[in-house]
Amino acid sequence: MSTILVQGAMQEELELLARMLPGGRWTEQKGYSFYETGLHETKIILSLTQVGILHACISTMLGIERYKPDALINQGTAGGHIRTLEIGDIVIGETAVYINSMQSPIREKGAGSNALEWIPLETKGGAPLEADPKLVQAAEQTPYAGTLLRGRLGSGDLFSRETDRIDLLHAQFGQLCEDMESAAAYKVCHLYHIPVIGIRIISNNELTGRHEAPELFRRTQEKLQSFLYRYLQALTAGKGPSEAEPAGCTPF
Ligand code: 5AD
Repeated sequence: MSTILVQGAMQEELELLARMLPGGRWTEQKGYSFYETGLHETKIILSLTQVGILHACISTMLGIERYKPDALINQGTAGGHIRTLEIGDIVIGETAVYINSMQSPIREKGAGSNALEWIPLETKGGAPLEADPKLVQAAEQTPYAGTLLRGRLGSGDLFSRETDRIDLLHAQFGQLCEDMESAAAYKVCHLYHIPVIGIRIISNNELTGRHEAPELFRRTQEKLQSFLYRYLQALTAGKGPSEAEPAGCTPF
């Protein structure tokens, strides 16, 4: 592989990776940041997408047009949408689905609103999108001192904290967790025929009432970046995925 683009929505979601891949340079394209670096013979581009579907679409298009990557990895935190997901579990997005395309019933003025009555719009945009099977397989083979599972990622411009709504969304779309970018990256990559994968670490789960304490949140983000560094090692094939990380980087 000659170029891999790795996305994160927030600075903290790329910071450790940038430190592990030193010597690169930050550039900007229409207000979206990219860090150009490398690993072995492969060009690695870190891309700060910013939060949400719109930003993720725009920055994915900009990144693909500019760097023509051979693979794109969307990564970051997510909220659990099944009860068995614990903080720190990593979900490998075999598929991703947009969970935000809804129609409400008609209600008169003063009749309020009830999201439990909203119905998914049967649009083509709502179908689950596939990750590249080879990227999925390589992610599954990457060592992780925690639970690694494969399944469906759900994305929308929403941060759901209502138990009944989460259960309903899960029944409607089948996602294991919720984030705000990955399905957008899958959609754009499919248009350009770029192999894509989303990898998400659970930082909160309303169904079990577990939330990462603010002081540990960063550690959860870093846990995922350490995993991704090992994954990139394997993808760039310079070294086996189990080899040591650079000094100063905590292995998880
Ligand atoms: N719902 C939606 N997005 C979440 N994120 C983490 N947890 C959730 C959640 N429960 C991620 C999003 C976004 C930021 C708010 O964190 O992808 O980038």
